[in-house]
Amino acid sequence: MKTTRSLSMMTACPLRRFHKRRCTERMSLSHSFLRRALHLCRYFEDPSVELRGRRVIELGAGTGVVGILAALLRLSGCLHTHPVLSFHLRHMTLYCISGAEVTVTDLPLVLPQLQANVSANVPPAGWPSAPPVVLPLCWGEDHLTFPSDWDLVLCADIVYLPETYPLLVETLAHLCKNGAVVYLSSKMRTEHRTQSFYEEHLQSRFDVELVLRDDKQNNNIYRASKRAEE
Ligand SMILES: C[S@@+](CC[C@H](N)C(=O)[O-])C[C@H]1O[C@@H](n2cnc3c(N)ncnc32)[C@H](O)[C@@H]1O
Repeated sequence: MKTTRSLSMMTACPLRRFHKRRCTERMSLSHSFLRRALHLCRYFEDPSVELRGRRVIELGAGTGVVGILAALLRLSGCLHTHPVLSFHLRHMTLYCISGAEVTVTDLPLVLPQLQANVSANVPPAGWPSAPPVVLPLCWGEDHLTFPSDWDLVLCADIVYLPETYPLLVETLAHLCKNGAVVYLSSKMRTEHRTQSFYEEHLQSRFDVELVLRDDKQNNNIYRASKRAEE
């Protein structure tokens, strides 16, 4: 049976250390980065997004907040969060059900902080099975060392470097060979030609659907599925 719980009602804070290490000195900047990630976290509230029993990989995980939250959603009744995150997520209701097996990836340089955030957010009762796995994945370079049997691929605020767009599509195509669904959260920045990533690069190999638009934040969430052309 599904149980629901408002994040604003949760008091303890396994995400405290995550936030503190990453954001103390650059609070507003970090909040701006976090916004795309939190948009995606909020979207997990949608009943069409099923995490239970799914194999999930996150690209460009950064702080790891999306992947860590997806892994915490495995827990029933013991999810807590930092007051600042509670503030951002106060309207979110979490389905505290058995969730996903999570792998979080980023460039090698980022991994020590990412691993530290995963370690700092071990739930009081421990991870229900394995903790999120932290691995290096540079788009277009070492994606072939990863399997293609994912159910979900999560991407928050990673569409901002036009020179990486073909590499990112190549990586997604490999990870999604067996039918994975991709969720991408992006601020639609003109200067980064973000729209062109979705309308030209991604659409060349994926069916792409805009599933949520936040006009105020100029943030879009897309769902993409690879076309069976190869
Ligand atoms: C703006 S941050 C977003 C971090 C996180 N997803 C979030 O929403 O808070 C972009 C992330 O993409 C990663 N990244 C950039 N280029 C990359 C590449 N070529 N391969 C893998 N990761 C990359 C960066 O290291 C960084 O962590």
